[in-house]
Amino acid sequence: MREARTRYAHSNPTPDEIRNALWRMATEAPTNCQPATGGTWRRFLVQFRYDVRYKMVFIVTALFLVWVALQHGPRPRVLHYMWSYGDLVVLPEDEVTSQGAVCLDGSPPGYYLRRGTGKGTKNWIIYLEGGGWCWDIPDCYRRSHTEYGSSKYFKWSFGFDGFLSNSPSVNPNFYNWNMAMLKYCDGASFAGNRTDVVVHEGKQLYFRGRRVLRALLDHLMAHGLDQARRVILSGVSAGGLAVMLHADYVKTRLPAHVIYHALPDAGFFPDMRNITGHEHIRILYQRSFNMQHCAGGVDKDCIKDKSEETQWQCYMAQYAYKYVQTPMFITNSGYDYWSLWFIYHLRCHPEQCPEKRDKLEGYHKKILSITYQVRKSEKDGIFLPSCYIHSLTSFAYTWTDYVVSGTNLRDAFYKWYSGKTPAVVANYFDEPYPENPTCPWTLEFYNRVTQRLKAYDFFVDPE
Ligand SMILES: *[C@@H]1O[C@H](CO)[C@@H](O)[C@H](O)[C@H]1NC(C)=O
Ligand SMILES: *[C@@H]1O[C@H](CO)[C@@H](O)[C@H](O)[C@H]1NC(C)=O
Repeated sequence: MREARTRYAHSNPTPDEIRNALWRMATEAPTNCQPATGGTWRRFLVQFRYDVRYKMVFIVTALFLVWVALQHGPRPRVLHYMWSYGDLVVLPEDEVTSQGAVCLDGSPPGYYLRRGTGKGTKNWIIYLEGGGWCWDIPDCYRRSHTEYGSSKYFKWSFGFDGFLSNSPSVNPNFYNWNMAMLKYCDGASFAGNRTDVVVHEGKQLYFRGRRVLRALLDHLMAHGLDQARRVILSGVSAGGLAVMLHADYVKTRLPAHVIYHALPDAGFFPDMRNITGHEHIRILYQRSFNMQHCAGGVDKDCIKDKSEETQWQCYMAQYAYKYVQTPMFITNSGYDYWSLWFIYHLRCHPEQCPEKRDKLEGYHKKILSITYQVRKSEKDGIFLPSCYIHSLTSFAYTWTDYVVSGTNLRDAFYKWYSGKTPAVVANYFDEPYPENPTCPWTLEFYNRVTQRLKAYDFFVDPE
């Protein structure tokens, strides 16, 4: 009887026996457990399963990481950010190659999608991603090896926040809409329309932003956008400019009866001299415009109005704005940090260089003067806080925290959108720096931002 039992136990040990054996392996001297356990990882798992101290270390580390995320993320709302995202869709090759609608490296373009729910299923936000521009062929070649030039590098999903958030508290008026964020992979605000292929370092480069935009819209039309009742075209930075360049064109690709508006964010990159009086940014935009043959990818009426030498202006918001017929609510900072840094070359915090305060104010006045046309418009609204910030729609804190004339962007936009505030009065202009207490102008914030700007300091000086 005893013998039989032993044999049985040998071939099929009881759970307690396994547990004890594993416990011994895991806790006894390494020479004993090494042969039985295999890799470190496996040993760790065994240890973790049976050693309460390992569990404690794990839990404490996890709590610490959550704490760090809460400290450094955009407020505790980082939690919404983690749970609200779009899934990647890359267009099938055969859908794009016949149209030549490809990213810089010739790969098919794509977008991130989150389907709407409940009452939002027939409403769409189409959001154009930002990401600067490439200014010459070597620069575009470099970009073609990144997610801003090739779908080979697109991530599987993308965090949606702010205007794209699915949280009813962050985004009460649009949280249940369909959201499609179109990936920016052409380097020219979806405006390039160059037919020939450029070869650099043995690699073929394509400048086809406008065809990419069309292919993405056609694809969405075949996947639910054709049922849309309401559409808002939005986008940030280079994508905010793209909204102004293409708003009327996008309308022509949508169902005829759709209720259509646009919300361009941070798309006014002022055509102005830098702080030492040199022409700089316009030279770069001219290069990009000519290199990518953008005359075929921007507003036709604008191009008709200009001479060949000034057509590039149709590629900058301050000149292109007046041709746009779509009702727009424009949001832009009066002290956009991207433009202060890369266009104006003002690279110090106002407290650190008080002697440059009048220069800083000069910049702000320039923004007021180029946006004066929006103030006068009978169809458009504008929200222009005096914050040291670039994008305003894409994070919960920028979407809700900055207040101008008693209203944040979220509510200002909705009052204009729903018609509660007529466009002629939907003009939220702020006092100059440093009057707005809701704006993040601390030195600590400035240092954090400029660290990032320095890391992206691409600037090829125009010779
Ligand atoms: C202004 O632009 C010129 C021309 O690109 C450049 O040489 C100069 O360094 C710029 N000024 C500053 C302060 O960066
Ligand atoms: C873009 O280029 C193609 C091919 O050259 C041309 O047929 C088309 O009309 C251009 N698009 C625009 C908007 O000019």
